[in-house]
Amino acid sequence: MSAKITVIDHPLVQHKLTLMRRVETSTAKFRALMTEVSLLLAYEVTRDLPLKQETIKTPMTLMEAPVLASDKKLVVVSIMRAGQGLLDGILQLIPSARVGHVGLYRDPMTLTPVEYYFKVPHDIEDRDMLIVDPMMATGNSASAAVHRLKQTNPRSMKFLCLLAAPEGIAHFHEQHPDVPIYTAAIDQGLDEHGYILPGLGDAGDRLFGTK
Ligand code: URA
Repeated sequence: MSAKITVIDHPLVQHKLTLMRRVETSTAKFRALMTEVSLLLAYEVTRDLPLKQETIKTPMTLMEAPVLASDKKLVVVSIMRAGQGLLDGILQLIPSARVGHVGLYRDPMTLTPVEYYFKVPHDIEDRDMLIVDPMMATGNSASAAVHRLKQTNPRSMKFLCLLAAPEGIAHFHEQHPDVPIYTAAIDQGLDEHGYILPGLGDAGDRLFGTK
């Protein structure tokens, strides 16, 4: 199966992403922008959701009208903690989605992910899964999360991030050629600490004001 990456280059997404990248953007503004961007990203990622026809009554007449066939069948999985930032906007758009959480932290020495939390709904086999984490840097956390989530056997999987580094994309695609990636931008690369350049810094710290 060939790996797929979609860059969501909508002008509103790109403009808001630039505001998020700016070092002078405050925590409150960064958080608000993350919610706005995640709404727009969710709109693009859900483009292929299947529709079904339902008979409804308008004030004028009966009609066959389209409704989502699977709106109750989506599970959004946040890779903590920065994934929380993308979750808010997505849930505004798809309030009936179920939510899972995977807690991973990066060992600062090895940059490899360590799992500290895992909770997903029980009926995953019937659900399409959207995994969210703003930053795909080395791709180690994303790959580890997807490995773990594959054990729950979802119907399909997509990975959504805000920024991706080429190294992370290559690593992720090697491990998971069956999981398409959606991102707002592909940046230049990584620094020696595994941070994305030019990037936007530590997404978790910027979201929660912890630095
Ligand atoms: N995680 C972040 O929050 N930022 C990076 O640049 C890389 C990983």
